[in-house]
Formats: sequence, structure tokens, C-alpha cells
Amino acid sequence: MTGKITFTMIKPSAITAGFTGNILLKIEEGGYKIKALKKVLLSKEQAGHFYDMHRGKPFYEELTDFMSSGPIIAAVLEMENAVDSFRTFIGATDPAKAEEGTIRKLYGKNMGENAVHGSDSDESAEREAGFFFSFLERY
Ligand code: GTP
Ligand code: MG
Repeated sequence: MTGKITFTMIKPSAITAGFTGNILLKIEEGGYKIKALKKVLLSKEQAGHFYDMHRGKPFYEELTDFMSSGPIIAAVLEMENAVDSFRTFIGATDPAKAEEGTIRKLYGKNMGENAVHGSDSDESAEREAGFFFSFLERY
């Protein structure tokens, strides 16, 4: 059975560009319920811990530098089949390859600055939600 929650972040470049409101609106209009929400500035170490599964990959340094370069907005989202549906909803990792109308197509710039994160499994969603939020912060 697939789970009901996924975790997302609005990435620093999308916040700087002023897309926060548009992205949250699109998420809500897409039928996702926002269960938890906050704006956080990650340290390089915290970004490295969050992206631990990518440690050692060629883009790891660039990714963790970028994700700690400015605040992110973290959110837990609820919907049936949340993980898979949200990954389809945001589009391909590379905005140039993302479907028309997806968040990454609309608000992403390139592979690194691709506007949003989306969990890749139910296990990741729980780990990532727990990284940012206690259960007292998830309604
Ligand atoms: P997330 O939802 O952000 O996890 O994206 P994803 O699951 O579609 O991609 P993946 O987990 O493989 O990579 C995590 C993030 O690393 C991506 O969102 C990109 O921002 C970045 N990334 C992945 N591959 C590359 C790359 O080849 N170059 C650069 N600069 N960044 C990359
Ligand atoms: Mg991923």
C-alpha cells in the first residue's frame, strides 16, 4: 500500500525569485493538503545530512552548497498515493524535460535550481518529514 504523505521543499532560488506564493497555490489547487510548513535556513552540514543518499556523487557538493545558500520552505503534504503523484505533479528533475504545466517546468531554471524537492519513496517521505517536523507540528 502506498502512503498518504510526501515531503517537499521550495528551493532557495525559487524563493529568491518570488515564486513561493505561486508554488504553494499550485500545490493546494492540485489537491494536496499542507500538513506542516516552515521556512528554514539549513547549514551546509544539515543539507549534507538531508541529502546523505547522494554523498559521493558528482553533484553532491554543488547540491549541498546550493541548498544552504538561502532559506528553503519545508512542507509535509497529504494526498492518496502522495509520493508518486507529487513526483508526477512537479515534473522531471531537469526542468527542460519536465511536462508542460508542472512546477519544475513553470518555476525551475536548470537541473540544480529546479524549484522544488519531492520525496522518492514512502520511507524517504517519513525520514524527510521527521528531519524538519515533530508530530506536534503535523496536522
Ligand atoms: P529531488 O526531488 O530534489 O530529490 O529531485 P529528484 O529526486 O528528481 O533527483 P535526485 O534525488 O536524483 O537528485 C536530487 C537533486 O540533486 C535534484 O533535485 C537536483 O537538484 C540535484 N541534481 C541531481 N542530478 C544533478 C546533476 O547532474 N547536476 C546538478 N547540478 N544537480 C543535480
Ligand atoms: Mg530525490
